[in-house]
Amino acid sequence: MTSTDTAAIDPAVDAWLAERADDRLASYQAFLRIPSISALPEHADDCRATAEWIADDMRRIGLEHVEVAETGGHPIVYGDWLHATGEPTALVYGHYDVQPVDPVELWESPPFEPVAHDGSMFGRGSSDDKGQIHMHLRAAEALLATTGGLPVNVRYLFEGEEESSSVHLDRWLEANRERVAADVAIISDTGFFEGNIPSITVGLRGMMYAQIDVVGTAVDLHSGGYGGVVQNPANALATIIAALKGPDGRIAVPEFYDDVAALSDEDRSHFAALPFDEDAYLARLGLPELFGETGFTTLERRGGRPTLDVNGLWGGFQGEGSKTIIPAHAHAKISCRLVPNQDPDRIFDALRAYVAQVAPPGVTTTVRLLGGGLPSVTPVDHPVTQAAARALEATFGRAPVYVREGGSIPVCASFESILGQPVVLLGFAQPDSHAHAPNEWMDLGNYETGIRTIVRFWTEIADLPDEGA
Ligand code: BES
Ligand code: MN
Ligand code: MN
Repeated sequence: MTSTDTAAIDPAVDAWLAERADDRLASYQAFLRIPSISALPEHADDCRATAEWIADDMRRIGLEHVEVAETGGHPIVYGDWLHATGEPTALVYGHYDVQPVDPVELWESPPFEPVAHDGSMFGRGSSDDKGQIHMHLRAAEALLATTGGLPVNVRYLFEGEEESSSVHLDRWLEANRERVAADVAIISDTGFFEGNIPSITVGLRGMMYAQIDVVGTAVDLHSGGYGGVVQNPANALATIIAALKGPDGRIAVPEFYDDVAALSDEDRSHFAALPFDEDAYLARLGLPELFGETGFTTLERRGGRPTLDVNGLWGGFQGEGSKTIIPAHAHAKISCRLVPNQDPDRIFDALRAYVAQVAPPGVTTTVRLLGGGLPSVTPVDHPVTQAAARALEATFGRAPVYVREGGSIPVCASFESILGQPVVLLGFAQPDSHAHAPNEWMDLGNYETGIRTIVRFWTEIADLPDEGA
C-alpha cells in the first residue's frame, strides 16, 4: 500500500491491517474454495457450507446475533453489532452465491482453487461477490479488534440466491422487518468505472428472464424422410428470435417501450460527462465494432435503455460431424434488462403474446417466466452517498464518478419498497473482472484499499450530523 492509500484511516487500524495481509489472503482463498453455485442443485450443500463459513467468521471477529437463517432455498447469514448508541444503523448486503463456471476448460487455474498473482486474486466469486463480503468482514474485524467497536450500528445480511434472482429473499425481508431495520442499506456488489476509476453506482437495470420452448414430434425424425413435410422446431425458433429485434437494435415486441422513462437532457449530460474511452473499451472487448439501439450512446444503451438478449440457444444435434435429423424440440433463454418504469410481469406478458403471434404453424410454442426484478435508481445527494464518496476519495485519491450501470440487483428495489431504506451502492470490483465468465479476478489493490474505504466510510457516517442518515 502507498501512504496515500491509507492516510485517511486511524493509524492503529491501518497498522493492524498491514500486519495481517497474508492471513487475510489465506482466509479470502479459503472462502473462495467453497463452490457456492446457487443455480445447480448439486451445490446446495456447498451453499450451506459457505453460509456456515461466514457465520463462523462473524462470530470469531465479535459480531453478534449471528444466525444462518432458513429461507426455503439457500440460507441467509445474519449478524450485527448494535452498540453505537445514538449513531445511525446501516444494513450491509452481499451475496455469497456465485455463477456456474462453464466453460471450465477456459479457466487458466481451476475456478475453485483461487490463486493470487500479479496483484490479482483469480477464482470464481473473487469479485462477484464473495470478495466484497470478505472486505466488509475484514473492515469490521480490524475495527472491532483495535477500537473494541464499530463507529455506527451495522447489520450484515448475506444471501445465497442473488445469481438466481433472489427468489426467497423478499418474503424473508417481509417476515424479518425488525431484524433488518436500518437507516440506510449499503450494497457492495458493483464495481468501478472503465479504467478502474472509483465509482458509486446510482442506477441498476431490472430483469425479465424467460424460456421459449418449441416442440414438434415426440422424437427426432430422419430429415430425408420428413424434411419438407413437417415444420422444423429449430427453424421455427430461429424465425421467432429473428422477429424479436430489428437491425437498428430496437426491440420489436409491441408495448415493450410503453413504460420506459425517457432519458432527460440532464440524464444524457451525466452519461456524456463520464470519462469514457470508447476506443479502449472496444479494444478490451476485441470486437470489430460496438452495436446497440440507434440514437443512443454506448453508456446510455448500457445504463439507461432496455435490452432483449438471447442468453442460450439449443436444439438438435450438437456433436462432431453431421447427423441428418429434424430435431424434436428447440429452446432459447431470453432476458430483458429493464429500466424505470418497466415492470417484469408486464414485459413477460408482452413477450408471450408477441411470440404467440409470430410463432410458425406446425409446432407447439410456449413461453415461461423464469425470474425477474425491478430496476432501481438510487440517490446521489443522500448524505450517506456523499459519505461514501468522501471515503473513496480519501482512500483511492480520486473523487468517484456516479454511474447508472447495466447490471441488476433485484434486492435493491426491495430494500426501497419493502424496508423503506435508501440504498448506497458502494462496490469495488474493477470493470473488466470477468464476472460470470472464466478467469474471474479481483484487483488486490481495490480489495485492500476498499477495506480501508469501508473503515473510513463507517467513521464518515458516524460523523454526520444527527439528521444525516
Ligand atoms: N453483481 C451483479 C450485478 C451487477 C453487474 C451490478 C454489473 C452492476 C454491474 C450481480 O451479481 C448479478 O450478476 N446480478 C444478476 C441478476 C439476475 C440474476 C437477476 C445480473 O445482473 O445478471
Ligand atoms: Mn453480484
Ligand atoms: Mn453476478
